[in-house]
Amino acid sequence: GVDISKLRGQSGIITMDEGYMNTGACKSAVTFIDGELGILRYRGYDIEDLAQRSSFLEVAYLLIYGELPSQGQFGEFRNRVTRHTMIHEDLKRLYDGFPKDSHPMAILSSMILTLSGYYNDQLDPLNPRHREISITRLLAKTPTIAAYSYKKSIGQPFVYPRNSLSYIGNFLNMMFSVPAEDYAVDPVIEKALDLLLILHADHEQNCSASTVRLVGSSRANLFAAIASGVCALWGPLHGGANQEVIEMLQHIHNDGGDVNKYLNMAKDKNSTFRLMGFGHRVYKNFDPRAKIIKKTADEVLQKLGVNDPLLEIAMKLEEAALNDEYFVERKLYPNVDFYSGIIYKAMGIPTEMFTVMFALGRMPGWIAQWKEMIEDPTTKIGRPRQIYTGAAHRTYVPLDQRG
Ligand code: ACO
Repeated sequence: GVDISKLRGQSGIITMDEGYMNTGACKSAVTFIDGELGILRYRGYDIEDLAQRSSFLEVAYLLIYGELPSQGQFGEFRNRVTRHTMIHEDLKRLYDGFPKDSHPMAILSSMILTLSGYYNDQLDPLNPRHREISITRLLAKTPTIAAYSYKKSIGQPFVYPRNSLSYIGNFLNMMFSVPAEDYAVDPVIEKALDLLLILHADHEQNCSASTVRLVGSSRANLFAAIASGVCALWGPLHGGANQEVIEMLQHIHNDGGDVNKYLNMAKDKNSTFRLMGFGHRVYKNFDPRAKIIKKTADEVLQKLGVNDPLLEIAMKLEEAALNDEYFVERKLYPNVDFYSGIIYKAMGIPTEMFTVMFALGRMPGWIAQWKEMIEDPTTKIGRPRQIYTGAAHRTYVPLDQRG
C-alpha cells in the first residue's frame, strides 16, 4: 500500500525500514549475536565462557581494545581506571540542584555530560590521547557518579572511592557503607554483580549503542555521546525494563498473585499492557543471558537467604507464558531483565537504580562501539532519510487574513 512516488527522495529511491528491523547501520567487529540460535559473543568469546571465567574489568578491556589483556596490560588498565575514580569536588555541588526524588538516570546522564565541561581541553574525538583519557575517566567515574546519586536520594553523605577495593567492591562500598558503621563487601554479592555487569556489557547495535554512534558520528565528544546513550537506555522498552519488571511483579503480588490474569491482559490487543521482561527484538528462541542469570538468581537468593515472594511469582509467570500459545507463537521468552531485577533487589539495590546498574554494565560496550566508529576513517555522519507524508505545497496566508 505504499505510494511509490513518495519513495522518491531528492537523490533517488529511499528504503523504508521502520525500527531498522533489517537495516545494518555499520560494520562491527565487537559483538556477535545469532538470535535464532541464542548465541552471544564478545570479540568472538562465548558469553557463557566470559561469565564463568572472566571479570567485568577484563571484559571491558576485551570489548574496548579487541583482545584479552596480558597480565601486564590488565594491571596497567586496572591501575589507570582505579586512579581516576574521584570526581571533581565542584561536580558534587551539581547534585544539590536535583530534587531528592530525581530519577538517578536523569542524574547519571547529566553528570556524564557535565564531565565534558570539566575536561574541556581533552575532548577531541580525533585525538587518540584525548580518546584514551576520556575512556578511562568514564569507566572510572561512572560508578562514583551512580553511587552518589543513590546517597543523595537517601540523604546520606557521599562515600569517597576506595582504591584498595576492586572495581565492583568499590562501587558497593560507595553505595552501602556509612561513615558511622563498619561495612564489608559481601563476596557473594560482589561476584554476582560482576557477572551481571559482564552479561550487560554489550549487545551490538541496540537503541542506546546506535544512539551513541549516531551522536558520536557528528564528532560530538565522548561524554556527550555516552550521555545520550544513557538517555536512550532509560526507556521502558530498553534498559528501563528491569525496573518495570520488578514493579510489575510487585503489582501482581499486591493484587493476589494471579499470574494468569496478567498473562491474559498482555494478550489482549485492546490493552497496552505488556509482560515486562518478555520478548526481544533479536533473540527469538531464548536469550542466552537469561539462562545464565536465572541460575545466578537461584544461587544468590539461596546464599543470601532471601525468600522473595516476587521470585515465586516470576517463576509462575515464566512457566505460564512458556506454555501459552500466544507467547510460544510469537517466540516471547524471558529476556535478561526478567531476572536481573530480582537479583538487584536481593542485593539491596533500590528499584530506581536498576537501570543505572544496566548503564554501568553497558559502559564498555558503548565505549567500544564509539571507538570503533570514530577510529574508522570511512565513517560518515549518521543521517537517515524519510518518506515525506505532509502537504505537497501550500501558499502562505498572512495571519491578519486568516480570520
Ligand atoms: N507482552 C505481550 N505481548 C508482546 C510482548 C510482551 N512483552 N512483546 C511483544 N509482544 C507481542 C506484540 O504485541 C506483537 O504481537 P502482534 O504480532 O500480535 O502484534 C508481537 O509480540 C511482536 O512484538 P513487537 O513489539 O513487534 O516486537 P519488537 O521486536 O518490536 O519488540 C520488545 C521487542 C520491545 C523487547 C518487546 O518484546 C517488548 O516490548 N517487551 C517488553 C519490554 C522489555 O522487556 N524490554 C527489554 C528488552 S531487552 C533489553 O533491553 C535488554
